[in-house]
Amino acid sequence: MRLDGKTAFITGGAQGIGLATAKAFVTEGARVAIADINGDRAAQEAVGLGSDKAIGVSLDVGDGAAVKAAIDQAANHFGRLDILVAGAAVMTPGVSIEDLEEDDWDAAIRVNLKGAFLVAKHGIGHLRKSGKGSIILIASQMGRVAWAGSTAYCTTKGGLLQMAKGIALDHVSDGIRANTLSPGGTATDRLSIKFGDMDTAEREWGPKHPMGRLGRVEEIAAGAVYLASDESSFMTGTDLLLDGGYSAW
Ligand SMILES: NC(=O)c1ccc[n+]([C@@H]2O[C@H](COP(=O)([O-])OP(=O)(O)OC[C@H]3O[C@@H](n4cnc5c(N)ncnc54)[C@H](O)[C@@H]3O)[C@@H](O)[C@H]2O)c1
Repeated sequence: MRLDGKTAFITGGAQGIGLATAKAFVTEGARVAIADINGDRAAQEAVGLGSDKAIGVSLDVGDGAAVKAAIDQAANHFGRLDILVAGAAVMTPGVSIEDLEEDDWDAAIRVNLKGAFLVAKHGIGHLRKSGKGSIILIASQMGRVAWAGSTAYCTTKGGLLQMAKGIALDHVSDGIRANTLSPGGTATDRLSIKFGDMDTAEREWGPKHPMGRLGRVEEIAAGAVYLASDESSFMTGTDLLLDGGYSAW
């Protein structure tokens, strides 16, 4: 098993890509803390994975004190921490920057960007104690290309690419690696909401990818397993792009 004995703290873990990552990590032998603002669902999913394998944590990633407390709780529970996954993100209204409300801009920065900063900030000490570690920030192909009406979201995802590089350089001597994982359009509730339903999302958004379809959460989680495991031991400060060719057009 590729993550045998390791433990992970995963934000946005109650559904979608975060949940698929939690499941894949457990399958590979890890124990996981599923942290999410939807604490009930995080707890429910943790029970499904098994009380010896997972705990659910209720957490708003924009709240620094809460992030520190949740990460400390997970590290105490498992006795160590090896992997951090910052996956929580909000959606922004599909409008131009001129029409975007300041509150919506602030929410995107607070959750998508500051949330990742706080997870890294409060998790690094635990990873250092473990002797090494892997930090995975979930970005997006929208960190490299843009989409009309999504400037705030794209800005946060582009920022994560730079954040991972900075963390990688600052903590290479601690044995800590930091990378982004950038999915293309992936079949989750996020896209059902954005397009009205999943069939419409697949029909309208799938063909924007050269592979002609949306990604599956398991395909993205497989990338997270690679970044978390020692198989990626020579990889830090870069981006793993899993986008069905979206940004190759
Ligand atoms: N689905 C896609 O097409 C796609 C594409 C590229 C990148 N991504 C990125 O992948 C990640 C996961 O995407 P997804 O589609 O699974 O998303 P999703 O919307 O299904 O899940 C996001 C999770 O984050 C949680 N969350 C939101 N705000 C939070 C907060 N303040 N504190 C803690 N948790 C919070 C939600 O409750 C939810 O469980 C996100 O970072 C997203 O931007 C997704």
